[in-house]
Amino acid sequence: ADSGTMDHIALAFESISGSKTDACVVAAGYTASVLAPWGTPLNSTAEAWKNDGTNTATDQLNSMGMHHDGMRFFPINGSSDDGLLVVNHEYIDQSALHPNGATTDESGNRPVEEVRKEIYAHGVAVVRIRRTNGTWQVIDSDPLNRRFTSDSVMDISGPMAGSSHLITPFSLDGTRTRGTNNNCGNGYTPWGTYLTCEENWPNIFVHDGTMTAEQERIGFSNKSRYGWETAAGDLSESEGEFARFNITPTGVDATQDYRNEGSTFGYIVEIDPFDTSRRAVKRTALGRFRHEGCWPGKLEEGQPVVFYSGDDSRFEYIYKFVSRELWNPADANPTDRLATGAKYMDDGTLYVARFDADGTGVWLPLTVNTVAQDGQTLGDKFGDLAGIILNTRGAADAVGATPMDRPEWCALNPVDDKVYFTLTNNTKREEANAANPRVDNPYGHIIRWDEKDDMTGFNWEIFVYGSNDSAPADVNRSGLTAMNEFASPDGMGFDSRGIMWIQTDNGSDVADDTNDQVLAVVPSAVVDTEGNQTVITADNQDMLKRFFVGPNGCEVTGITFSPDNTAMFVNIQHPGNWPVSDDATEATPEGTILRPRASTVVIQKADGGPIAV
Ligand code: FEO
Ligand code: CA
Ligand code: CA
Ligand code: CA
Repeated sequence: ADSGTMDHIALAFESISGSKTDACVVAAGYTASVLAPWGTPLNSTAEAWKNDGTNTATDQLNSMGMHHDGMRFFPINGSSDDGLLVVNHEYIDQSALHPNGATTDESGNRPVEEVRKEIYAHGVAVVRIRRTNGTWQVIDSDPLNRRFTSDSVMDISGPMAGSSHLITPFSLDGTRTRGTNNNCGNGYTPWGTYLTCEENWPNIFVHDGTMTAEQERIGFSNKSRYGWETAAGDLSESEGEFARFNITPTGVDATQDYRNEGSTFGYIVEIDPFDTSRRAVKRTALGRFRHEGCWPGKLEEGQPVVFYSGDDSRFEYIYKFVSRELWNPADANPTDRLATGAKYMDDGTLYVARFDADGTGVWLPLTVNTVAQDGQTLGDKFGDLAGIILNTRGAADAVGATPMDRPEWCALNPVDDKVYFTLTNNTKREEANAANPRVDNPYGHIIRWDEKDDMTGFNWEIFVYGSNDSAPADVNRSGLTAMNEFASPDGMGFDSRGIMWIQTDNGSDVADDTNDQVLAVVPSAVVDTEGNQTVITADNQDMLKRFFVGPNGCEVTGITFSPDNTAMFVNIQHPGNWPVSDDATEATPEGTILRPRASTVVIQKADGGPIAV
């Protein structure tokens, strides 16, 4: 599109200053309210959240989980006032979850009740929410309210289903597993389902022996983060409920121990929020790694359905899945949503990105016939497609993909179909490449591309560089000021009008000047100087505006909107000492120490109109 002649939506709020308080701050003329914090009961089995950590594991199983992250609003009958909010619960804070933090017995084992509570605080929540007279509320005991935890039975689908790699005593035919974990970013499908992504799940496992190259590469270790494998007490456990977190081989084969349990994680998981009779499904064709998010690409009748996904670790890769089946618009409203998921997500080709210095890029297929850089095929190296999927990172290494500065979220601009990816930071980079041009990159950047017509490659440029405003010009390449400096872009999304919202998970010296935040920009309105590989520069940086700042200690993540854009939902994850009331902008009084609660915050214009304009 020619940005010189199009009419563009304009941001009608003033950029706000940075903030470092125990309160949310939002642009003038807007409200921000706490909705569905950790521990909010979803049904009558759960007792109300208690301020002393004494809620039981059963309470937690029937309530909102901890550490809200990616999410999506699913309207009911197209309503902007009534729908399902589906929320990821990425990880936990044991000190807030239990009365006195995590405990162990004299043998170093974890009490089973604490372990179950921790397992149930992870996963995904589906919660009915409704707006009445401008106030959003959770509908307690709505029949569609539902939890998925790190213990919920899930189906395996796609190339890994039934493979020998996934055989466990729980699933002798390798078609099922229990739980999803470290659900960070998210996505959705064109047929009305939610996608949740498994990111830093290796840390719930322990491996005490000699690991395979694949296990080393994905990052298992000899110590688990929470010690769930040591659960002790009145167990009456289901098959391997806790033993499965120790993946060290101990039996004669995979039917005797949980050596393969870790291979049942690392996937994109599809959830039908509207049908509580259906299990979640792990769609293995989209690769196995530390999936941050999963976002649909441009959707066109008669063309493949496309999903992008990043692997959030230093020097990891960006992937694209292309369906074998071609899109039929009749599938936008199917009777069986998960069958439609199988149609478009179980069979297709996974690609990994190579960004070349001339501003072009190539999608490298990860198939058995792909010839790797050393002349062997991926089939020679990994056996069948299941072997390639299990070792997605290794396959991507072999074909020469471009190591990135921690790929986080992806989003598609609905106005011009450009694809955006946040690259959050990489403080270990010593060797620059064109797409990751700053060595020691604590601030991160956002890259964008246009797919070529045949989808085998793309043209890319860097949209914006994060920076402290005080950094030298060769670092602050987008000329950011005190009113829009940011670091570590992480969550990101476009609303239906083409406004791009950037969320941060800050670790750099920008945190000395402001807490994590939400910024907005209309990329299609930014004049992009031809031949300049940086889009936002000192000449146009004022188009990037700060809209919202979170409370001390938090990260701002997860973004979704009501269809009419009058409500914007974001998540406050791991706040330090917040919230003190339903008003997200109320500061915790000096000297008050709270049990912090991650929460969704709903932002609305005071006059009820659409956000930002
Ligand atoms: Fe969970 Fe990559 O952030
Ligand atoms: Ca600064
Ligand atoms: Ca993230
Ligand atoms: Ca992050």
